[in-house]
Amino acid sequence: MSQTDPQFVYRQVGIDRIDDIRLLWEELNVYHVQFAPLFADEMGSRTFAGRRSEIEAKAASGKVRIELVAAGSDGPDIAYCVASVSADGVAEIDSLFIQSQFRGHGIGSELMHRALAWFRAAGATSTIISVTHGNDKAIAFYRRFGFYPRAVVLRQRDEGAG
Ligand SMILES: CC(C)(COP(=O)(O)OP(=O)(O)OC[C@H]1O[C@@H](n2cnc3c(N)ncnc32)[C@H](O)[C@@H]1OP(=O)(O)O)[C@@H](O)C(=O)NCCC(=O)NCCS
Repeated sequence: MSQTDPQFVYRQVGIDRIDDIRLLWEELNVYHVQFAPLFADEMGSRTFAGRRSEIEAKAASGKVRIELVAAGSDGPDIAYCVASVSADGVAEIDSLFIQSQFRGHGIGSELMHRALAWFRAAGATSTIISVTHGNDKAIAFYRRFGFYPRAVVLRQRDEGAG
């Protein structure tokens, strides 16, 4: 089984179909909480509606590319990638998720290659990815594509929360 296996069906959708990623994004959000226990309340209470608004705002001011992968032609969606290029040429991998049982088959790499090719075609001037602190597997994965940590963003906790 590899990313070129016909059982994996790749498709791009427009911003009007962003809800197609909702269930997978919710899985990704739960996955992220384990890496940031200090921010578990804040991260656990994030909603897809909020994330959708952020991505819609990016689409309004720049370009957004949404790609999903289904397991079979009529099968459920098992992976997605949201990528964007801002009006001033900054490209970003906004969200990338492969369901756990489908990891390690090259699907994430294939989605990255497609997004990076789109960035080049769009004339992006720089490319960034925001990774949850502690998600070392993702950092190792992105290193293969030439991405390295450059800054760590510290966020003040709301000590009154929870
Ligand atoms: C990080 C992530 C996107 C990588 O996607 P993936 O599909 O698992 O990645 P790939 O399969 O392309 O590559 C990952 C591994 O599979 C291996 N691999 C690639 N093609 C393969 C194939 N055909 N068969 C078997 N293994 C393969 C790679 O060599 C790599 O191996 P290693 O990590 O054990 O050294 C995915 O694991 C994921 O969704 N993680 C959880 C969410 C997450 O962290 N997202 C990033 C948020 S910023």
